[in-house]
Amino acid sequence: MIRKAVIPAAGFGTRFLPATKSQPKEMLPIVDTPTIQYVVQEAVAAGIRDILMVIGKGKRAIEEHFDRSFELEAELSAKGKTAELQAIRRISEMANIHFVWQKELKGLGDAVLCARDHVGNEPFAVLLGDTVMDGPRPVIRQLMDVFDRYQESVVAVEAVERAKVSRYGVIKGRRVNNGLYLVEDFVEKPAPAEAPSNLVIASRYVLTPDIFTFLDKTGRGKNNEIQLTDAMRAMVKARAMYALRFEGARYDIGNKLDFIKTNLVFGLRQPDIARDLRAFVRGLARSR
Ligand code: UTP
Repeated sequence: MIRKAVIPAAGFGTRFLPATKSQPKEMLPIVDTPTIQYVVQEAVAAGIRDILMVIGKGKRAIEEHFDRSFELEAELSAKGKTAELQAIRRISEMANIHFVWQKELKGLGDAVLCARDHVGNEPFAVLLGDTVMDGPRPVIRQLMDVFDRYQESVVAVEAVERAKVSRYGVIKGRRVNNGLYLVEDFVEKPAPAEAPSNLVIASRYVLTPDIFTFLDKTGRGKNNEIQLTDAMRAMVKARAMYALRFEGARYDIGNKLDFIKTNLVFGLRQPDIARDLRAFVRGLARSR
């Protein structure tokens, strides 16, 4: 059973400068809600209550967002803004949120390694703090269901156009059934002609705790960072690992185009602005 989730949120966010110079990219809002709140909500909807966030310098806003704000609560209460008060309280009450600091930003693999003491010797979920998943069921729950059945690590994958595989970690896998693959290898950022598939690693994982042993042995790789993919490549040689083509869409907020798309998709669902936003988008499309 998966009880704990780790949310790496310490990265620099260089693709989103200057916005991320003094604020965490994980706090960039999707309409009115910070990205990382969606990530926590996904874990909570999947039944996870114990969440560890890996943060670093300049990320205090994340801690504050998930802490209680007594002054704000008193103010909303005095003004009779009950709905807002409940929404604010819910943020700090929905899970037990813990924080650990990644002291030097040495890459995603190192961020996961920072979770070792908290996770201990049990399987755990990893949800990247800058990526929103939008699906009929929480994507991490879809992975947890596969874990419940096979008791092995599971990584989310999505199909991308062949021409774009060179931006991602790609799996080489054997199809088990609809959407599920047994991973044989991972290839980091291959040229399209050399890619073993068009299925790319997609921001959500369920990992068995022996990943920490492999991370310990993983040196700096691409971009001089400790890559989680490199540790998984070593682990897949030692034990089975699955890849699930999840149901839903992925939005990487650290990427400007995805950020704007997500705001439009989610904005069009908000009853208070949907009508006007739709009219605006239609008008814009006609005028270009
Ligand atoms: P990214 O690969 O998007 O890296 O991280 P980044 O450094 O944040 O962003 P760019 O590429 O410079 O724009 C994916 C997730 O892993 C976290 C990030 O905070 C993000 O949520 N991460 C990355 C860490 O926690 N620590 C790291 O050392 C690197």
